[in-house]
Amino acid sequence: MNAGKKKWWQSAVIYQVYPRSFQDSNGDGIGDLPGLIERLDYLQELGIDAIWLSPVCKSPQADNGYDISDYRDIDPMFGTLEDMDRLIAEGKKRGIGIILDLVLNHTSDEHPWFLAAKKSRDDPYHDYYVWRDGEEGTPPNDLRSAFSGSAWEWVPEVQQYYLHQFAVRQPDLNWDNPKVREALYDMIRWWMDRGVAGFRLDAVDLIAKVPDEKILANGPRLQEYFRELSRETFSHGDLVTVGETWNATVDLAKGYSNPDGSEFSMVFQFSHTMTDQVEGGSKWDLAPLDFLKFKSILAHWQTGLHGCGWNSIFWDNHDMPRVVSRWGNDKEYRVESAKMLATVLHGMQGTPYVYQGDELGMTNVAYPLEDYRDIELLNAYEELTAAGRPEEDVLYALQTRGRDNARTPMQWDDGPNAGFTEGEPWIRVNPNYVDINAKAALADPDSVFYCYKKLIALRKEYDIIRDGDFTLLEPDSDELFVYTRSLDGEQLLVVANFFGNTVPYDLPEGWDAGRADVLIHNYKDYEPGTLRPYEAFMLYQKD
Ligand code: GLC
Ligand code: CA
Repeated sequence: MNAGKKKWWQSAVIYQVYPRSFQDSNGDGIGDLPGLIERLDYLQELGIDAIWLSPVCKSPQADNGYDISDYRDIDPMFGTLEDMDRLIAEGKKRGIGIILDLVLNHTSDEHPWFLAAKKSRDDPYHDYYVWRDGEEGTPPNDLRSAFSGSAWEWVPEVQQYYLHQFAVRQPDLNWDNPKVREALYDMIRWWMDRGVAGFRLDAVDLIAKVPDEKILANGPRLQEYFRELSRETFSHGDLVTVGETWNATVDLAKGYSNPDGSEFSMVFQFSHTMTDQVEGGSKWDLAPLDFLKFKSILAHWQTGLHGCGWNSIFWDNHDMPRVVSRWGNDKEYRVESAKMLATVLHGMQGTPYVYQGDELGMTNVAYPLEDYRDIELLNAYEELTAAGRPEEDVLYALQTRGRDNARTPMQWDDGPNAGFTEGEPWIRVNPNYVDINAKAALADPDSVFYCYKKLIALRKEYDIIRDGDFTLLEPDSDELFVYTRSLDGEQLLVVANFFGNTVPYDLPEGWDAGRADVLIHNYKDYEPGTLRPYEAFMLYQKD
């Protein structure tokens, strides 16, 4: 690929903001757009290019905004359309684009389309959703919702069931109806005209469902829909688009994202995030990380899409536990392991996503049940305990994997509520904010923050990080994550001790610590022949 043909988002680093937990500006305990605008300077300091903003459209908030009742307005809890326009403009001034979260698989049950649809089978909006005949108490089949229980809900007025792959209050849209597709495209064009930089497409691999055949993800018409969607909307702007596709494989991803712009820019692929759960089980069935599998999956995506697609690279998001607690060590090696994880991620090819607070090394929480807010977690508690799983065991699983781990308020300083709000926060602040916060991180040159800042800057400085090919070294090592990147006589070596033991290690053939440039290192000095707990560095050399 020649440099002139690069897309802006191939050199970009994207930062995810979960707005209700980022910064409150009016003391109601909920983060909002004016609050985010106040913090743009912080994000500019970090060096990011764009913000993926989780949903802020009008919503009854059954799933924290992933249940939209008006796609063309902002929920008053987050602000107004004027605030959004101001966010876009203020972002632009700082070189930060705004990427909106598009929820196209379903709406809220309070969306006017659904309110009309459920009134009568003859209503023109009825066919905007997925209905099946049946008898009350006997759903059409045994499809399950991702948030527990049946995926079918009975509506007495029409004597039919509707499909909801997520919560009962998130009815699935019927993409087979061309009117639905046209209405959504129209809405997307409306947002494009407001100057957004791109879109993240929520649960988009589920839109082409065929529920009678129990096909939910990767339905037969999915690629057709992606192409039509892109043709009608995104392809008319220089946008970044990223589809959330939990069930994608490398081969499927090649058909969903295309550098020529006919599909998405990239997809989120999740297989590496499922290597620490029981095979065939759910996310609540914890298992130790299968590290060899984890590495081989990541390597497979790196090599599989090289030159023909584009990877999104991320460790976590608002649906996952905090990475430093999950794959690092959030106690004595919190700082080292947070930097190690960042280094391994940011050395790979693709567009990195930084989830808010990861640049501070924010950690999981372990709250009692009453302090959790997430619908998925609360439903899972009911379902798992009702199935007879011991309560203590359930709570441990929820504390380890629950989505609220990522949703506790951003820790800005050591003042009341971590500087997030002057009111009562909608979810408890992690008590460790006294030590872990942005103010402390900005004052400490060795903080996790400056490691992220450096990695983001390196990506702009070294083409090899964007363009180089990837080779996994030490694939059979139970402790080390090592890889090289190479590009026309330039080479990059990333070495990481992924765990807490000290291990012997010599650099690979052709690498000389004295000659190579150390681009980043999470320990102060180099100790030949060994790697200390969570030690990680990145070396660069030219022929
Ligand atoms: C996606 C979102 C998640 C949401 C779900 C339903 O997986 O990331 O937060 O609950 O879709 O919209
Ligand atoms: Ca607020």
